[in-house]
Amino acid sequence: MIEGKAVRLRALRAEDAEHQLRWRNDPEVIRLAAAGDPRFGPTTVEALADRFGRILRLDPRESAVLTVEELAGGRPIGMVDYRDLDPYEGVAEVGIFIGEREFWDHGYGSEALGLLVDHLFGAFPLHRLELDTWSGNTRAARAFTRLGFQEEGCRRDAVLLAGTRYDRLLFGLLRREWEARRRRLAADGVPHATRAHDVPGD
Ligand SMILES: CC(C)(COP(=O)(O)OP(=O)(O)OC[C@H]1O[C@@H](n2cnc3c(N)ncnc32)[C@H](O)[C@@H]1OP(=O)(O)O)[C@@H](O)C(=O)NCCC(=O)NCCS
Repeated sequence: MIEGKAVRLRALRAEDAEHQLRWRNDPEVIRLAAAGDPRFGPTTVEALADRFGRILRLDPRESAVLTVEELAGGRPIGMVDYRDLDPYEGVAEVGIFIGEREFWDHGYGSEALGLLVDHLFGAFPLHRLELDTWSGNTRAARAFTRLGFQEEGCRRDAVLLAGTRYDRLLFGLLRREWEARRRRLAADGVPHATRAHDVPGD
């Protein structure tokens, strides 16, 4: 379990499927998280059950999905994940979504992603983390930038949503940038929010 000030990240459990089903059938979550990509949702209990069985058995040395819980009420509000962790290149891809809309815009997403970033750079010999979003998702882009991710490029017109083309924005964070940001926060007296323990299996 990895605990911050307002959220914790914990290992995925079978019962999290019901939350995922709700989130993946919310059109606004699908629009923002995946630019309406039908592979993300809407989805059915049966399709999700298949996928969930695989996710629960992921090897955390390569990839994992973690549930984001708000600390105050213990309620699952979203997920973070990492995938394609390559120990040779020292690169991994991360992702986030907060599925409970009333928890948007209160700092939960930024904190959850920050905890994942701290955990990954702390636990693995990674050199860089990558993530992406689409040009219509300005809230996500701001949250990533706030955590120190730099916009490194874009795949022009790579995203199609309701007949309109958008760019896919590519973000990256290097270990030295993460370390420098931690030093700046420590110098400013901001306590390090992460209390990291072994996540896999909780
Ligand atoms: C994108 C997403 C992860 C961002 O998480 P979030 O919790 O909504 O965003 P945050 O609250 O961390 O940041 C948003 C705003 O809240 C403000 N905020 C940050 N910490 C805060 C706090 N402790 N209290 C109050 N407000 C805060 C920030 O200033 C920020 O405002 P700004 O962007 O205008 O600067 C989340 O909205 C989400 O999952 N949305 C749907 C799916 C999605 O878009 N996923 C990303 C796919 S790439």
